Formats: sequence, C-alpha cells, structure tokens
Amino acid sequence: MKTIGVLTSGGDAPGMNAAIRAVVRTAIFNNMKVLGVKRGYNGLIHGEIDEMDVASVGDIVHRGGTILRTARCQEFKTPEGQKMALDMINHFGIEGMVVIGGDGSFRGAQVLSRMGVPSVAIPGTIDNDIACSDFSIGFDTAVNTVLDAINKIRDTITSHGRANIIQVMGRNAGDIALYAGVGGGAENIIVPEIPFDVDDICNRLLEGKKRGKLSQIIVLAEGVGNASEFAKIIEAKTGIEIRETILGHIQRGGNPTSFDRILASRMGAHAVGLLRDGIGNRVVCIRNNSIIDEDIEKALSMTKEFDKELYALSKVLSI
Ligand code: ADP
Ligand code: F6P
Repeated sequence: MKTIGVLTSGGDAPGMNAAIRAVVRTAIFNNMKVLGVKRGYNGLIHGEIDEMDVASVGDIVHRGGTILRTARCQEFKTPEGQKMALDMINHFGIEGMVVIGGDGSFRGAQVLSRMGVPSVAIPGTIDNDIACSDFSIGFDTAVNTVLDAINKIRDTITSHGRANIIQVMGRNAGDIALYAGVGGGAENIIVPEIPFDVDDICNRLLEGKKRGKLSQIIVLAEGVGNASEFAKIIEAKTGIEIRETILGHIQRGGNPTSFDRILASRMGAHAVGLLRDGIGNRVVCIRNNSIIDEDIEKALSMTKEFDKELYALSKVLSI
C-alpha cells in the first residue's frame, strides 16, 4: 500500500495529535504518502483532504485536541453517504485508512473495510470503553485532569469541613471515576458497572465524619446520574454540608500525559505497519503493555471488563 488516509472521529481525546503524528511520520519513513481527512467522516464525503508532510505534524505531540478536527457524521451512516465517501477515496487514490476514535468510529472503519478499503482503527476516547484494549488514548490525561480538580476541591472542603460530589465523564463507563477516585482517595465512587445503595454511601460519610474526617469526596460517573440530585438526597439524609462539581469538557482538553503520548505513538506506528502489509479491518489495542491488533467485528462484540478488584480496593482504602 502506498497511499493512506487518516482521520479523527467522535469526541476528541488528548493524544490524538500524537497518534496523527505517528501515523504520518511512520508512513513517510516507509515511503508511503499520507492524506489527512478533516472533520471525521464528513471530510471523506466532502473531499476535505490534504497531503500531510513531515512538517505538518511538527509541534503537536504535546497538544490536546486534534489538528484534523473531529465530528459526528450522520450522513456516513447512510448508503448514499458511504457511496460518496468511497467515490472520494477513489478520487484521491487512498488505498487504506487509519481511523482514530471511539467504538462508533470503529463501525465506520468496518464499513470502509467492507467496501474494499482496508481500514485500521485506533482507540481514541477519554471514556476507556473499548473492550479489546486495556487503555484508550486520552483516558490517562482525563484521569489526571480529574485528579488535579480533586486536589483543589480537597483544599477548600477541608477548610470548611464539607463533602463534595464530583461528576465526571465516561458516558456509560465508570473507568474515569474509578481511576480518579482511587488516585484521589475518594471516600465513595459511584459507577454504572456496580450497584450502589444511597444509604450505604450516607453511612460511610457519617462514619467518616464521626472519626474526624474534615473532607469527604464522592466521585460520580455521569452514566449513573446527576451530581445535584445526589447532593440534595445525601445532604437531606446526613445533614452533612455538601457541594457538587460537574467537571464537564475540561476533561477532554489539555496536554496529553507521557502515557498517552507514548501509547498514541506506538498505536499510530502499529496501524501504519498493518496497512503497509495490506492488512485492514483491525483495531489496534494495548494488552499487558503489548501493542497488538484485533478483528474489528470481534472487537465490537466484546464486553469491557470493569476492574472490580480496583473498585473493591477503593472501599478498603477509604474506610
Ligand atoms: P465515538 O467514535 O466517539 O464512539 P460516535 O458514536 O458518535 O463517537 O461515532 C462517531 C462517528 O462514527 C459517527 O458520527 C458516524 O460518522 C460514524 N459511525 C458511527 N456508527 C456508525 C455505523 N454504524 N456505520 C457507519 N458509521 C458510523
Ligand atoms: O465520549 C467522550 C465524551 O466526552 C463522553 O465522556 C461524554 O459523555 C460525551 O463525550 C460528551 O459529548 P459532547 O462533546 O457531544 O458533549
């Protein structure tokens, strides 16, 4: 394969730029041409496509967001949109595609592969909800952003002797809540994967207060519900003064951590290696610190394992 395309799709994630850089530079190193597609599948349909050279990805390894921009594209879910994209791919001479995004974007890569354009998907989402991969690009940075917020909130609530419920992103996954909760020493972590009991949470807060805890933090995954509603219920049941914090899109931005930059670099290079060898319809994953790849169909049918051991540990450490 001599000419490949690369796009980012779905929600952006810190480290996507490092992945784009790795794709472009690995391809050029292997004497391949790379075309950058703007705004996800929209750019494929409407021909927003430009060649990327070595310099085009300079000065981006450390930047959040995605220089290719990103989008959600309903049109690409239709046969008409897919046909337009295929025509454009043929027009530009693209022989294979790298798609960086979440599982929705992977379905798009699967469609491209089925249409005869070998495509390789790279997990880029802060949610860490890609079942075949231990980690996705952007997750570690998002967790560190939440940790920074927890540290700051801890300062003020300690001064006031309050509790705070911090709502974090993750869509239907509780990984951001779990990792940030354990790292931040949260007293309670509420995630969609584990059933919870509000009375149990209230009892733990009351116990903590009894033994003199000056601050108590509850990390709530957005997939469970809204922080304001939880705050009202908990304050009414315990009498403990509680504030809520909804961190929102701050979790999607910022300079990627070293972990995300290195993960993105390894995954981008692996994706190009597959296409160079004419292999498509794969998802690049990291498992036990090895970069491997999986059939897209199989990857999409897998269920993400929630780390119940880490969750159990959080309960022990927050007594
Ligand atoms: P993410 O990739 O973060 O999971 P989405 O689920 O919004 O985000 O998907 C991103 C884009 O991938 C969609 O807007 C659409 O363009 C494409 N996509 C999603 N599902 C399909 C599908 N079944 N067929 C073709 N394209 C799809
Ligand atoms: O998938 C990434 C994510 O940030 C989720 O955690 C969140 O639920 C969603 O995207 C927010 O989407 P939007 O950027 O469309 O508000």
